[in-house]
Amino acid sequence: MRASELAEIVSRVSAGAKLIVVSNREPYVHVREEEGIRVVRPASGMVTAIEPIVRAVGGTWIAYGGGSADRLVVDEKNRIALPPDDPKFILKRVWISRTEEKGYYQGMSNTALWPLCHIVYKRPYFSRSDWEAYKTVNRRFCDAVLEEAGTGSAIVFIQDYHFALLSRMIKDARPDIRVIQFWHIPWPNREAFRIFPWEEELLDGLLGNDLLGFHIQYHCNNFLETVGRAIESLVDYEHFRVFRGGRPTYVRPFPISVDVEQIGKDVESPEVEKRKSRFLKELEGYIPGVKIFVGADRIDYTKGIPERLQAFDLMLSRYPDTRTKTVLVQLAAPSRTAVAAYRKLNEELDELVEEINSRHLTEDWLPIRFLRAHHDYYAVLAACRMASVVLVTSLHDGMNLVAKEFISARTDGDGILLLSQYTGAFRELADALQVNPFDLDQMADAMYAAFQMPEEERRQRMERMRALLEMNDVYQWGGNIFKEVERNLSPEGQQ
Ligand code: F6P
Repeated sequence: MRASELAEIVSRVSAGAKLIVVSNREPYVHVREEEGIRVVRPASGMVTAIEPIVRAVGGTWIAYGGGSADRLVVDEKNRIALPPDDPKFILKRVWISRTEEKGYYQGMSNTALWPLCHIVYKRPYFSRSDWEAYKTVNRRFCDAVLEEAGTGSAIVFIQDYHFALLSRMIKDARPDIRVIQFWHIPWPNREAFRIFPWEEELLDGLLGNDLLGFHIQYHCNNFLETVGRAIESLVDYEHFRVFRGGRPTYVRPFPISVDVEQIGKDVESPEVEKRKSRFLKELEGYIPGVKIFVGADRIDYTKGIPERLQAFDLMLSRYPDTRTKTVLVQLAAPSRTAVAAYRKLNEELDELVEEINSRHLTEDWLPIRFLRAHHDYYAVLAACRMASVVLVTSLHDGMNLVAKEFISARTDGDGILLLSQYTGAFRELADALQVNPFDLDQMADAMYAAFQMPEEERRQRMERMRALLEMNDVYQWGGNIFKEVERNLSPEGQQ
């Protein structure tokens, strides 16, 4: 779908109502540096997906202002027009104190809800004071939404697990505002979720939404089952909706995507060429013909980075013909380092890379390059384009947009995607090489299969995946959500 078609759908559905998007992470961060203020795009699948939509549709985006120069560039209502060189929407920043950030973001969002929803055998921790901070911050975002909505009509589109209570707060104040939420991470099964101490309050909060979206049907089913068992409500499986207090919340799968066409253009840009030369310099001693395996992730325990390195190690040991003929380039963006589990993972990765490299290295070959830094959009595209194989080995992932960015970047029709069966993307991308990241032997063998795959097969698989993504880009995703609003949330559409 074209961006302009989505803009038309949204303007038809909203019929003059103001569009307000809410997320924790902001799409542009202003950072103070020696040379002045720099604008940075954060490493976030959510931002990658939502920003092109808001750019196409316009409206107001409310998010937490976390950059060191964020306060310096906004007006008295904490607003700034963005993108900087060609403004298309308003970003309204909400301020959160260090203590609130600790409770709401590091604590409740990323030490409780993140591991709880991602079942990767990382124990979630719950703290009453984090829950209180989470409520306070949700309330502050609600105030910001109400201020932006004014007295007119509005549609609010909330992103993610940082705001499970927000829709209910908005509805209590303004029942006429239509509220949609998209949950960008998995929803676990009932058995896993029931340990959450404030289960009823959280579910009641989410049922303030008129429409609640997940990536895949399985997460919708898990959500309905959780609700059905945990809270007084009527679950209507025929229409996939829940009634609480007489009002319905529709629950639907919307597999998120990326801006396929734009990535296809950007990958040919001089910015990408510059990043490619930079990478080749990093790969000092790189011999053309050596197959580059690429990983590109935030350093997060859900992404299966240690497992990926171990499987690569196993491949090198088991299949000696891959030695000196492959190199693994891992783009690794530091993330959530204030949370202990993330700091520990960073240390673990350093040791692992060192150990594997020292075991295999030769005079002119270093098997793993671990590039720990924030790599910008163009750098990720450059790496995708240089890759023979991209490795997405998440232990559990709502969707995983790196997989889709990679396919969109391969306008040359070549390249192999090795994809964890525990990602949302796996449901769509049947032509990827499937791996179970918990099974290192199987993953090593799949890497070797990728190493050997003939060009014709690579191209056929890539062509099918590209065709699928061209039909299901991020505008299609947004269009499907707003068409659902039109079907069910307009007075004529209510069943
Ligand atoms: O997509 C899930 C998500 O948590 C987004 O909400 C978030 O922006 C991204 O991953 C990166 O995490 P963070 O914003 O905590 O750096």
